Formats: sequence, structure tokens, C-alpha cells
Amino acid sequence: MNKRRIVIVGFMGSGKTTVAGALAGRLRGNMIDLDSFISDRTGRTPAEIIEADGEEFFRGVETRTLLYLLENTGPEVIALGGGTWTTEANREMIARHDYLSVWLDAQFDLCWQRIAASDSIRPLAPTLTAARELYQQRRASYALARFKVEIGGAEDADRIAAKIQTQLEMS
Ligand code: S3P
Repeated sequence: MNKRRIVIVGFMGSGKTTVAGALAGRLRGNMIDLDSFISDRTGRTPAEIIEADGEEFFRGVETRTLLYLLENTGPEVIALGGGTWTTEANREMIARHDYLSVWLDAQFDLCWQRIAASDSIRPLAPTLTAARELYQQRRASYALARFKVEIGGAEDADRIAAKIQTQLEMS
């Protein structure tokens, strides 16, 4: 069970980074946040890359960085970006490297509340309408994740991580 490696999937504002950190603590493993790793390697945040060079360019950087992480670092837990899991090639790469996927299924209103309250710039969710449309579009691919946890907003990250751990142990 401790050998299992996990990617955390979900929309912007679903809590991927904090839950991934809590889960890694429980599994006594390392956690890497893909967006932060991209920022460290390129010197630019995903938002800066998207704004300067466009989303398509960013997706290339994202896939190459993910592959590098899977091949070289192999942390126990990876928090993906909100769009990473929606690309089939990324999903295949993740499966090939024996990572299990967990979808943080948070209601749109909760995600939007967090997006609106956050200091981070999200160029792909500039307005409530654009964010909702993207959220709806992506649900079908998020649903391809192996495990799902419903996120209501009241539970803290460790409680959610505990639920994930239970699902992993029972599978
Ligand atoms: C994106 C989500 C962002 C970041 C980039 C693109 C997306 O990550 O990767 O801005 O396509 O949903 P978070 O989900 O951590 O905000």
C-alpha cells in the first residue's frame, strides 16, 4: 500500500495541492506539485506561460515536465494542474508509470469561490461563465480517474486524505 503512487486530479480550486500534501504526509512520501515544478524549472508560472505563449504551448511544457517527473523523480504523490488529466497522452503516461489517479470532485460553486478569493491568476477561468463552461466540459475526463472523493468544503485536507487512504487500502 505504501508503494502506491498517486496523482491528484481535479478542477482549479478543488484543493489538489493541499490534499496531495496531506496524503503524502500520511503515506510518508514526497509530494510534488506539477505547477510549482514547472515554475521552478522554467522560471515562469503556468499562468505567465499561458498569457505570453498561449495554452497550446503551455500544454507541451506541462506534458514534458510531467514525463520528466514520472521518469526521474517518481514522487509518491503528484498534484496535477487542472488541465493535465484532460489530455489522453498524459493519462496514458501516468498509467504507464503505475500511478493511480484520484479525482477531487468538488462542486463548481466551491471551486469558483476559491478561484475568486485566490491571489493566483487563472487565465483559463477569467469569469464565472468561462470557468463554469470549462468545469462542465472537463467532468467527463475527470470521471476517468480510478478513484473519486466528493469534496463538500467543510472537511479539512487531512480528513480528505484519510478518505483517500481508506479507498486505497480497500482496493
Ligand atoms: C490550469 C490549471 C492551473 C494551471 C494552469 C492551467 C487548467 O492549475 O495548471 O493555469 O487548465 O485548469 P490549478 O488547477 O492548480 O489552478
